[in-house]
Amino acid sequence: MEQLDKIGRLKQKLKELNAEYSNIGKLKAEKRAEFGRQLNLAKQKILQEIAKAEQELIDKDTEPLDITAWSGVNESLPEFYPATSGSKHPLMAELDRVTNIYQMMGFDVVESRQLDDEFHMFDSLNFVKEHPARDGYDTFRTEEGLIPPAHTSTMQHRVLRSYKHNLDEGKAIAVVVPGRVFRNEDVDATHEHTFYQCEGVYVSKDCTMGDMLGILREFFEKYYEQRLNIRTQPGYFPFTEPSLEFMIEKPKSLGGKKGDFLEMLGCGMIHPNVLKMAGIDPNEYHGFAWGGGIDRLVMLRYGLNDVRYFESGNLNFLREF
Ligand code: DAH
Repeated sequence: MEQLDKIGRLKQKLKELNAEYSNIGKLKAEKRAEFGRQLNLAKQKILQEIAKAEQELIDKDTEPLDITAWSGVNESLPEFYPATSGSKHPLMAELDRVTNIYQMMGFDVVESRQLDDEFHMFDSLNFVKEHPARDGYDTFRTEEGLIPPAHTSTMQHRVLRSYKHNLDEGKAIAVVVPGRVFRNEDVDATHEHTFYQCEGVYVSKDCTMGDMLGILREFFEKYYEQRLNIRTQPGYFPFTEPSLEFMIEKPKSLGGKKGDFLEMLGCGMIHPNVLKMAGIDPNEYHGFAWGGGIDRLVMLRYGLNDVRYFESGNLNFLREF
């Protein structure tokens, strides 16, 4: 963690330094070159320090290791590991709890994917081409133009299509989709480039927003094992209309005060265009969907204040669970 903090501080410095470049224009012409040169030097130095700190982080965690050799050859390793030495990663254990609760409510569970395309990530979700809302998702892209998905909503179209037969059989579509998601964001205590979300999709002839709020309340009360105060406020997502942000009041038992509302997920009634694109007639069927971060859910449950622990591989952290 210390090393990560150090890298974070250096990156912050770099940001501040980069901002300085915009001041060049304010200087007298003869001062500009020297100021620019000093900035470039300082920037070079910080970049080197970042590279060094990152290399140190790698070196610290990776001892040379011949994984094909019997354990005695790798002297730094113990002869054997006790059978009890491993455990499920806390996020995976909590994700099981999350999907179990939904399963008890009758939802199917399907996994999301870690590489997807423009169509599923955006077009099928009613994002208009070239719309700035696409930029809001800070997506990574591969050289081939594929997208490691920035939200589990990337699975909505597939779920609607492949469960459509439920509707023909007079049943509802009720599916949750846990998955890993990726965003090209600056990392800090509350932002990770890699995290987990869980999506929910429900479609039937006559479901309403009230049903959705009932399901979400039920889920959060089961997850936190207590009654909760909930609140919603209007939101915007191209794939739902109307859209809401769903909040819960941080429970007293978890250090919350009255009025401490936390946003847990985005939700809303599925946009008719999204249903249409999946071959479902919006005049006949209605649906709602929601999606939110798992990391945040777990952090609240355990009182964690830094999301970076989850992906850090820090054994002291992992052993606490
Ligand atoms: N995908 C949205 C996000 O990551 C969250 C979301 C909002 C999912 C509304 C939904 C929804 O299914 O209906 O920001």
